[in-house]
Amino acid sequence: MSMKETLQQLRESSLGAITAAENIDALEALRVKYLGKKGELTTILKQMGALSAEDRPIVGQLANEVRETLTYNIEQRRKTLSEKLLEMRLSSETLDITMPGKPVEIGKKHPLNTVLDEAKDIFISMGFTIAEGPEVELSIYNFDKLNTQEGHPARDRQDTFYFTDDDSLLLRTQTSPVQVRVMETQPLPIRIISPGRVYRKDEVDATHSPMFHQIEGLVVDRGITMGDLKGTLNTLVRQLYGENTVTRFRPHHFPFTEPSCEVDVQCFECGGRGCRVCKGEGWIELLGAGMVHPKVLEGCGIDSSVYSGFAFGIGLERMAMRRFNISDLRLIYENDVRFLSQF
Ligand code: PHE
Repeated sequence: MSMKETLQQLRESSLGAITAAENIDALEALRVKYLGKKGELTTILKQMGALSAEDRPIVGQLANEVRETLTYNIEQRRKTLSEKLLEMRLSSETLDITMPGKPVEIGKKHPLNTVLDEAKDIFISMGFTIAEGPEVELSIYNFDKLNTQEGHPARDRQDTFYFTDDDSLLLRTQTSPVQVRVMETQPLPIRIISPGRVYRKDEVDATHSPMFHQIEGLVVDRGITMGDLKGTLNTLVRQLYGENTVTRFRPHHFPFTEPSCEVDVQCFECGGRGCRVCKGEGWIELLGAGMVHPKVLEGCGIDSSVYSGFAFGIGLERMAMRRFNISDLRLIYENDVRFLSQF
């Protein structure tokens, strides 16, 4: 085959391939194949030296024509392909701004957290800070240092989740051990609350759960009296339940406070006459409290002839049940969205 024929054949076969190229990459591969440094046209041109002086200009001209044709066609095909690509993009990326949006379901705060956050705000506004303590606690902190010696009924294995045979490690039954941990480590005066989980071996029913929450409170300073305790707790209750809420401080016993009391709020439902909500009592028990026992203060290295303090422990679930009129404790833990979305 003469060089002329070879060139003509190259022109025909390449034009077909260029028109058939499906995308820019394929087209670029064709450009390299025909016009590249090691391409087919270049290879043919390298053989020009073998031609006669007569044929050389004719074949040279033809070769130039072929190159121009190929270059032109490749460029045209490139334009067509990129226009197509743009069209595809434009149609696939169109955004219908008139389409209604997908509704986003926003969760709600759990009623326990609502009440906890309210209580925290109230105490922080009175100058309290928030302390934390471990849920897996030493019996020494949960009991001994709280003036609850071995043999005390509160330490019974029937009521407490112990980890060890010697009963030295347990799931705390109250947040009160945080009192001791704070008194042992923080400088006086002390003004803290400590919310958290506590555990007792209770069967689950409408008012019991083996895990529940308390908020512990502790104030220690010079000259703290029962009057400070009453003022603080009345402020809490009135802010939570309204200015006219009536409270009752009833004598009680806790090993780590002396004197001790329980605080009730008058039933909102019946105003104290007795109804279904307060189980005929007229009052709803809210928390335990008292003046920190001198033995507990001394055990933490605090001079009880100079310093005094008060402490309290509030049941968070009870607060939430009162606040939202929830009649069954189990609802609080089931996390049924139909229940939770009401608050
Ligand atoms: N820890 C007690 C309880 O769980 C409550 C309490 C706390 C009482 C602080 C007095 C002082 O019942």
